Amino acid sequence: MRLLLAPMEGLLDDVLRVALTRVGGYDHAVSEFARVSGTLLPDRFFRRIVPELDRGGRTVAGTPVHVQMLGSDPACMAANAARLARLNPPGIDLNFGCPAPTVNRHGGGAALLDEPELLWRIAQAVRAALPPGMPLSAKMRLGVRDAGRAQECAQALADGGAQWLVVHARTKADGYRPPAHWEWVARIAAAVPVPVVANGEVWTAQDWVRCREVSGVADVMLGRGAVADPFLACRIRAGGLDEPDADERAAEWQALRPLIGEFVQGVQRKVEARHAPGRIKQWVQMLARRHEAARALFACIRPLRSLPEVAAELQRHGIHAPQPGDAPAGDPWQRIEHPPLALKAMARAA
Ligand SMILES: Cc1cc2nc3c(=O)[nH]c(=O)nc-3n(C[C@H](O)[C@H](O)[C@H](O)COP(=O)(O)O)c2cc1C
Repeated sequence: MRLLLAPMEGLLDDVLRVALTRVGGYDHAVSEFARVSGTLLPDRFFRRIVPELDRGGRTVAGTPVHVQMLGSDPACMAANAARLARLNPPGIDLNFGCPAPTVNRHGGGAALLDEPELLWRIAQAVRAALPPGMPLSAKMRLGVRDAGRAQECAQALADGGAQWLVVHARTKADGYRPPAHWEWVARIAAAVPVPVVANGEVWTAQDWVRCREVSGVADVMLGRGAVADPFLACRIRAGGLDEPDADERAAEWQALRPLIGEFVQGVQRKVEARHAPGRIKQWVQMLARRHEAARALFACIRPLRSLPEVAAELQRHGIHAPQPGDAPAGDPWQRIEHPPLALKAMARAA
């Protein structure tokens, strides 16, 4: 079974990927989309979105990062894919799921799910432009307004050369409203000869179990659930399917604090100081779904506007953010152990 880390434009960038893949549990991640519209994009464009391309296409923890492309013109997508391939990403993924009006207005993302023939032409053109050994996948929703053409779209992508499909089990019209219709993943998987990965509304290990039961597929991609609960993937892998109790959650929060500090350092290196508080609040707010301490922290930083104010409040909550120029406090290659699972393993061994 595979666990994949979802692409999330504006939320899960290279800085957060470092944190989440150091905790680990993912077979690979998919980057935010690189939008292709009419021109041949320079290498620096791809490198900016996916800095991991400069380190063999892997995060510091060694997790491969597949690069996602979004566009609607087969020839232009193919030309850009050929250029991207020269940077040697571990794989390329095509986006047919983005519901954003600005993207859809230009015929990209989920809007294309009304045109299976065009999906086929895009996949086919990109496949032909890539070296034979380079993996190509596609990520789709169920349709634009309904799922009536979901299987047809999936077949078009598989016929065009996508080697596996990730299905976000909602239509464009559904947006991000629960539920995710995992039963449709089963219908799609039955209709195509390639592996299908289920995606949507997996927030807990129990959701993962139910998602696999209903969809009948082994592989799952985690999105917001992974951001809200960085230990979700490794807990699933270790068979820890029950919700952690209060002590375990407290131990998880302890383990997350240095990671949040390093995330803050990474954000400061990457974005202008005026944008940093927003990025920090965004992750802390997601963590607050599971951690009482993150809720308390978020309540304190929410009204703050400047980075020094936010950093001081983090410090008050036991989170030390190294200065942007400082060397990382820990070994960035080292994986973060899941504390309760590590304790249980030690207890078993004793
Ligand atoms: C803020 C945000 C940005 C996203 N950006 C992308 C993207 O760039 N490419 C993509 O294929 N999907 C994108 N998605 C969709 C996610 O990859 C995923 O399919 C969706 O969130 C459902 O999974 P989840 O319920 O586990 O979060 C985005 C979702 C969110 C919430």
